[in-house]
Amino acid sequence: MAPRNRKTQGLTTHLVFAIAAAALGSSFQHGYNTGVVNAPQDLVQSFINETYRHKYDEYPSESLVTLIFSIMVSIFCLGGMIGALGTAFLAERFGRRGGLLINNAMVFVAAALVGFSKMARSYEMLIVGRFAIGLNSGLNAGLAPMYLTEISPVHLRGAVGTIYQLIIAFSILVSQILGLPEILGTEDGWPILFGLTIVPSIFMLVTLPLCPESPKYILINRGKDVAAQKALTWFRGTDDVHYEMDDMRAEFEEMKLIPKVTLKEMWTNIVLRKPLIIAVVIMLSQQLSGINAVIFYSTDIFQNAGLQKEAAIYATLGMGTINVLMTIVSMVLVERAGRKTLHLTGLAGMMIITLLLTICLALTPSAPWLSYVSIVCIIGFIVMFASGPGSIPWFLVTELFGQGPRPIATSIAVAVNWMANFVVSLAFLPLTEVIGEYTFLIFTVLLATFWLFTYNRVPETKGRTVEEITAIFREKSTN
Ligand SMILES: *[C@@H]1O[C@H](CO)[C@@H](O)[C@H](O)[C@H]1NC(C)=O
Repeated sequence: MAPRNRKTQGLTTHLVFAIAAAALGSSFQHGYNTGVVNAPQDLVQSFINETYRHKYDEYPSESLVTLIFSIMVSIFCLGGMIGALGTAFLAERFGRRGGLLINNAMVFVAAALVGFSKMARSYEMLIVGRFAIGLNSGLNAGLAPMYLTEISPVHLRGAVGTIYQLIIAFSILVSQILGLPEILGTEDGWPILFGLTIVPSIFMLVTLPLCPESPKYILINRGKDVAAQKALTWFRGTDDVHYEMDDMRAEFEEMKLIPKVTLKEMWTNIVLRKPLIIAVVIMLSQQLSGINAVIFYSTDIFQNAGLQKEAAIYATLGMGTINVLMTIVSMVLVERAGRKTLHLTGLAGMMIITLLLTICLALTPSAPWLSYVSIVCIIGFIVMFASGPGSIPWFLVTELFGQGPRPIATSIAVAVNWMANFVVSLAFLPLTEVIGEYTFLIFTVLLATFWLFTYNRVPETKGRTVEEITAIFREKSTN
């Protein structure tokens, strides 16, 4: 029986260092490569145009250039999906930290391919490189939140988990700033802009080897008690880690009795199926909220409101900044208000805003001043997204499962996230061509559904140990 008054230990220098080492080097790839393709779109398209002509001795049609460019953009998500599926294997075989370190090999391959594509006059290299960095990002999205939540003390787990999304938001902003025409958004600059993705990888390779593997992995997966205690002592900055070690030992003993979790069992065993469905739906609620659609549409909306192209670029940077700041607020709130409350608040806010936005966009032709209300809607949407739905899904999945099923569950949930991202990015434009601004109503309906699901099914995980959380699902299924 775990004691009620657990000693709460704070944020030690070692823990902060490990968080920075693991998160900066991993989620940066995810965010940076999501954002980096936007600013230099025209430059890359004219590169595709020229390269094609050089190869086939004729200019490609405009639709062919657009097609090649869209393949280059979206193959990143496809790579992410496949990479996510590999998370379980790497996390089990090499550990969380080990997996993160190995994964950097992919960054070197990708950076070389995209960085030298122009020199080699090959847009194929650009496409393969984007696929490789997608694989890397998909693996990161599973491995990093797993490592972060496993090394954190219970009372900081959510705040630390939020850091994954914080760095995504931050690195999207960095990619947009570096992509400005004054910096690297130039004909010669864009290959460097793409290749810079190697920098956070080098940072991780220098810093993460200095940090221990997740103590939970060392003990529960590898059965090494002394080594686990040593690692935990390093993270906590004190020898007084008995309570935590006892919790982990209890989980270890329990694990010995359970056979290895298989993919099939994730579905047939109701104790695992319930949290799996929750994890998948929460991931869907992040991507099918329409965040990428709103960001995509925002440039049009800013321009319709009379902003010049130049000003619209800065408006985009402003949105990125709001996203970063609001994610910091969410990091502070997540251990106070709780995951469920924040997620519900965010979803509700986004739902109302998509409705307002649809009305504004539909009425703008007769009342042009409404375009300013649309801008307020866009900002409100970002604020609501960042308050919870942006960050919570990434780590909630790792909180819902014990050590055994965690890697497989993370693999599935993160792959679903990338798949949903892929689907929205492919389907949104064709949809707006058919039903125009009413596309946002689809998101209103989806958000309402996700809100109801979260309200009824998702348990609050704040301040609970993994054992206490998994017990919720055991109790529910025996009743
Ligand atoms: C490709 O480049 C040529 C020459 O600069 C230009 O006339 C043509 O419009 C370009 N095609 C596309 C699809 O951008």
